[in-house]
Amino acid sequence: MLPLKDKVALITGSSRGIGNAIARKCAYAGADIVINYRKTGGTSQEQGGQLCKEIEGIGRRAFMVQADIAVKDSVKKLFAETNEKFGRLDYLILNAAKAPFKPFEKLFERELRQLVETNYLGNIFCIQEALPLLEKSSGKIVFISSLGSRFYNPAYPLGSMKAAMESVVRDCAEGLRSKKILVNAVCGGIVKTDSFKVLRQYWEHIDMLPDTLFVEPDEIADVVVFLCSTESRAITGQTIIVDRGLSNAICRLPEVKSKE
Ligand SMILES: NC(=O)c1ccc[n+]([C@@H]2O[C@H](COP(=O)([O-])OP(=O)(O)OC[C@H]3O[C@@H](n4cnc5c(N)ncnc54)[C@H](OP(=O)(O)O)[C@@H]3O)[C@@H](O)[C@H]2O)c1
Repeated sequence: MLPLKDKVALITGSSRGIGNAIARKCAYAGADIVINYRKTGGTSQEQGGQLCKEIEGIGRRAFMVQADIAVKDSVKKLFAETNEKFGRLDYLILNAAKAPFKPFEKLFERELRQLVETNYLGNIFCIQEALPLLEKSSGKIVFISSLGSRFYNPAYPLGSMKAAMESVVRDCAEGLRSKKILVNAVCGGIVKTDSFKVLRQYWEHIDMLPDTLFVEPDEIADVVVFLCSTESRAITGQTIIVDRGLSNAICRLPEVKSKE
């Protein structure tokens, strides 16, 4: 029995990276998929298109919607098209993120605005627009967080938005309890996606981490599928850390480094 059979999942920022892996896993778990991306005409749109075909190839329905989650009207269009196409929504996966890699004191005003508009407001816009649909299906919301929500990194202002969103997850879990909507987060460790290529330029010792401490996109996607499935019905308001034990082993890192 497929855990998400005949359900509909919308994954923001699913043309590339972790979102792409989540969309694929949800489809193989039986769901129809809404793939969202922001940038038109590039490799992002191309990769989203390939995923769309792959999902249709396994007999599920999929369609792509270009929408910038930071723009309220764009988000309205995303959910209106989802409703028009599938007539329902069971899972909202808040995965899209975009942020500069530099300390707060060096951020220009437009970068600060993008940080908040994409990574905080954008997620709230999505939750607000998804609610009428999620209410009908007693659906689920899963937010993708990162270790920056709880650990300092000078080049990662996105961490503060992740911390704020983990708090929103707790608030919404209580606020939406009466509507039978469960709200949780998956906090990922370090994953080698396109954004990692930029992060490594600002994180001096990251290449010294052993490969065993890097998380695969699929490992995050598996936990998202679990949080969407009925097996997780008693979990709400929680953030599950999926980091192969990196945060737990933080006091041993100098030892790891000296052995290299
Ligand atoms: N990589 C890691 O180490 C890591 C670890 C833990 C958690 N995470 C989190 O996991 C999520 C995915 O990360 P990733 O590394 O896979 O990122 P990524 O490779 O940079 O991909 C980001 C995705 O989000 C989309 N996106 C960006 N801004 C958007 C917007 N305003 N509206 C709609 N879509 C937008 C991008 O679409 P376009 O290409 O069209 O812009 C792309 O599909 C993020 O929330 C990230 O913080 C990442």
